[in-house]
Amino acid sequence: MPLDAKASAPGKVILFGEHAVVYGEPSLSLAVDQRTSVSGAAVGDQVTVNGRALNPRWHRYILQAVERHWDGPLRLQVESGVPSSSGMGSSAALSVATCAVLLRLRSEGPVEPARIAEASFDAERDAQGGASPNDTTVSTAGGGVLLAPVAHADLDVLWRIERDELAWVAHRVDVPALPLVVAFTGRKGNTARMVAKVRRFVERNAFGRDVIAEIGGLVAGAVDALADGDLAEVGRLMDRNHVLLHTLGVATPELTRLVEVAGKAAGTYGAKLTGAGGGGSIVVLTEEPAEAAKALSDAGAETFEVHASPRGVTVEADGRPDP
Ligand code: MEV
Repeated sequence: MPLDAKASAPGKVILFGEHAVVYGEPSLSLAVDQRTSVSGAAVGDQVTVNGRALNPRWHRYILQAVERHWDGPLRLQVESGVPSSSGMGSSAALSVATCAVLLRLRSEGPVEPARIAEASFDAERDAQGGASPNDTTVSTAGGGVLLAPVAHADLDVLWRIERDELAWVAHRVDVPALPLVVAFTGRKGNTARMVAKVRRFVERNAFGRDVIAEIGGLVAGAVDALADGDLAEVGRLMDRNHVLLHTLGVATPELTRLVEVAGKAAGTYGAKLTGAGGGGSIVVLTEEPAEAAKALSDAGAETFEVHASPRGVTVEADGRPDP
């Protein structure tokens, strides 16, 4: 067994399908170049995170991973390059990198990505009180990922995850180099609260279930439009997805205002909130990233140009990278 292990995992942007994917509808997401890294070694006399005792309040995601996959002392060092609660998958990147480290510390050789994806999904779902495997799958796999309830004949299947009578088949999608801008409202979103809010709406209201189905229905068109390079159509579908997320009650007025600001900037194809909402960020597909970024920062948002990253989780054991 290795004495120490290190893993790094990317954040993500969801282009289509957040919330609906929790109910088994399809989603389409991209890993981005912001990353979180975790290193770990079985030393000391307790579990520590960046030199402090593991605290269930501050380290919810790490706690879930440790409770499932570790027994004994552990020293973890975490460096997060994914802005927290911004909708860019900081908790998924943390869960993936932590699970990858813990599984690797207990293994003679490299751990299969599918195993990391499944372990980190379970950790995230329990920390959050409900989740789909979307964010942890994208962070594990890197690149463009489609989750769908059944395998798509024309796409490569990465793996399949089943829980509570739902199935998510993860597929690789080749996404062209999309010009994307993320604009953060500055207000942190709370994923657990938003997932619970949508659940109440969907369980009590047939209309809520129709909205979820309509969100899922946008994804096939988006995959085709991306394959055809039809960014105008992708943008139109993003705009529609935002309206539906607003109907679900997860778009704050601030998020919708930023979507409107982006919509007026030269070169914008479309924009929507990304992630759980209730704060967090929007994502803008644009021909003119500098124009969109300027308009959105003038409107008070913190903006990032994001680039899709083909690199998913990477793992090292005793200083040597796993293949
Ligand atoms: C959050 O990034 C995405 C949600 O769909 C929750 C999930 O899929 O677990 C809102």
